[in-house]
Amino acid sequence: MQTAQTLFDEDCRLEQYSGKSIHEEFAQDSEIVFLHGDSIDSLGECPPNFAKLIITSPPYNVGKEYETQTNLKNYLKALEPMLDELVRVLAPDGSLCWQVGNYVENKEVFPLDFYFYPLFKERGLKLRNRIIWTFEHGLHCSTRFSGRYETLLWFTKGDSYVFNLDPVRVPSKYPGKTHFKPGPKYGLPSGNPLGKTPATFGS
Ligand SMILES: C[S@@+](CC[C@H](N)C(=O)[O-])C[C@H]1O[C@@H](n2cnc3c(N)ncnc32)[C@H](O)[C@@H]1O
Repeated sequence: MQTAQTLFDEDCRLEQYSGKSIHEEFAQDSEIVFLHGDSIDSLGECPPNFAKLIITSPPYNVGKEYETQTNLKNYLKALEPMLDELVRVLAPDGSLCWQVGNYVENKEVFPLDFYFYPLFKERGLKLRNRIIWTFEHGLHCSTRFSGRYETLLWFTKGDSYVFNLDPVRVPSKYPGKTHFKPGPKYGLPSGNPLGKTPATFGS
């Protein structure tokens, strides 16, 4: 496998990736830009409708060192300006992937994607997949089952968007299976020879 060439400056900041310079200010002709700072400010530097793909996992309001835990209503209200900015910079044929877990208050579970879905919907985005990421590690619960998943909501801004299926196909359950009913397709492969479409869960 070919590995990308990386070059770091004296402060260990990535300076080049595969021969492409890394810039720290947004410019339309820059191929790679790393904006360091609060994302609401960084997004404010970006023009509208430019981002083809946004992948983000925001703070989940669980009291990590980078966030101030608050109630669910205030948490959502605080993130709404960020949603406005993300939708503003997203290209008309762009995709936005929003990954969140569950917020727990007084032992009650609030699945954050339930709460974010209507906020994105009212901003005009359309859901294409709700993907479940499962994992094995984490705290063991004693009054309910242990939480072992997070969800990724894949939205698009419009009906025309990029979905490159062939490079991510997975092996078919019955490779080589053919149509067995008499008819014009008899004996031909019944599935795509490149494999089947991945499902909406993974680990
Ligand atoms: C749930 S974590 C996501 C971690 C990420 N998926 C990773 O693997 O590194 C949320 C991240 O958002 C960052 N963060 C929190 N508030 C931010 C803000 N206002 N602007 C930019 N990043 C922020 C945190 O430092 C943290 O790394």
